[in-house]
Amino acid sequence: MTDQKRTTKTPPKKRKSAAPKAKSARPTKRKAKSEPPEASSAKSPTKKRKSTAPKTKAKVTKAKARKSKGPPRVSSIPAPAARRAYRPKSALHTRICELFGIEYPIIQTGMGWVSGASLTSATSSAGGLGILAAATMTFPELREAIAKVKDRTDKPFGVNMRADQSDVMKRVQLLIAERVKVASFAQAPGERVVKTLKDAGVLTMPTIGARRHAEKVQAWGVDAVIAQGQEGGGHTGQIPTSILLPDVSAAVDIPVVGAGGFRDGRGLVAALALGGAGIAMGTRFLLTQESQVPDHVKQIYLKTKANGTVVTTAVDGHPQRVIRTALIEQLEKANPLTRFPRAALNALSLMKVTGTSLPELLEEGMAMKQNQELTWAQLAMAANAPMLTKASMVDGKVAAGILPTGQIAGVIDEIPTVSELIQRIIAEAEQTLARLGA
Ligand SMILES: Cc1cc2nc3c(=O)[nH]c(=O)nc-3n(C[C@H](O)[C@H](O)[C@H](O)COP(=O)(O)O)c2cc1C
Repeated sequence: MTDQKRTTKTPPKKRKSAAPKAKSARPTKRKAKSEPPEASSAKSPTKKRKSTAPKTKAKVTKAKARKSKGPPRVSSIPAPAARRAYRPKSALHTRICELFGIEYPIIQTGMGWVSGASLTSATSSAGGLGILAAATMTFPELREAIAKVKDRTDKPFGVNMRADQSDVMKRVQLLIAERVKVASFAQAPGERVVKTLKDAGVLTMPTIGARRHAEKVQAWGVDAVIAQGQEGGGHTGQIPTSILLPDVSAAVDIPVVGAGGFRDGRGLVAALALGGAGIAMGTRFLLTQESQVPDHVKQIYLKTKANGTVVTTAVDGHPQRVIRTALIEQLEKANPLTRFPRAALNALSLMKVTGTSLPELLEEGMAMKQNQELTWAQLAMAANAPMLTKASMVDGKVAAGILPTGQIAGVIDEIPTVSELIQRIIAEAEQTLARLGA
């Protein structure tokens, strides 16, 4: 793996113009160098937290949910009674607020089987940017979900896709026709996809886990990146957010949104201090009222401790952060040869669920093979993650499925509404800025 040479340590600049500068992909500020390997799984112990303010009125509390004793791990800032006034001059009004046309620099990321129309529209209505997870939707489901979001809000929202899906260009055309504001991608989307969207006025924002990837996609003309650190949920990289975010922010000119390990207003201010233009959260939004994950599954997340997650390649061959469950332990112990038949079966179920025909699956497989140099065994395993996620997130069969999560689950205690969550984050961020004298 490569990294860049630290020639200059330029702090993120304050820009006079709020307009996005995405079209001119300026040269990056650093050169590549080798990067030492890092541990793939972090096991941080749960810390005791000082709670100075009264406990919030949470709908479901972790204190109730978990049996272990210890201080409740809730945000210390009560939600304000009413929605806050729009403050364009606030430090919290960042470049992504201008770029995406949103009130707060808070993004709810695309999460397969989790972020549907309900969560996405709630986030956008509340002033953040909601993102529909389309990689696990059929084309008609995606069309329907977009229509539902538009019925519920007139605010901007995004759609998360996989650029290696066989019908990606059809989906791109749908986003263009529906005037979706932002296309987000789990990996680098490819120049053709970026150009087609850009020419039609759709903003693009891939998720990256290393600086060199941010530099590559900036050169393709993407409008922003989400830099996800290793503490983040689902497929994740090796570099912690505290190192990745300032590194990427200093290397590229487009806005960089921090992801991995965020849940509150202090985190938002920290992300801004590290050069980010906002935060993107998966796990925190999974644990809201509007997320349609079954309640008993949400309770498992609430009970998870900060060291209760693991990064494993046993699911689909790619590092993925999940809750450590009996199934994960079993998969990790399994001989790779016995994993393959299960993966092949999952590939067949995925075909059925997503309405993909065998020729389409093969075409998709070929594209993935070319793009990612996977073996056929790895390819069949790639279907594992979505099917095993569906088993738990949609069907509620926890023993048969996986529970992708960020480490932040270990310090989340309650399940607020999306609006309460966003208002609380902004209130806490403002208090934090005031405390710091900003
Ligand atoms: C249940 C779950 C499903 C996810 N599915 C996707 C996905 O389909 N596409 C994607 O780009 N990222 C996916 N992710 C990653 C999130 O979009 C996000 O980047 C990550 O959760 C951020 O870290 P956090 O959980 O600490 O907030 C998923 C994460 C979770 C927890």
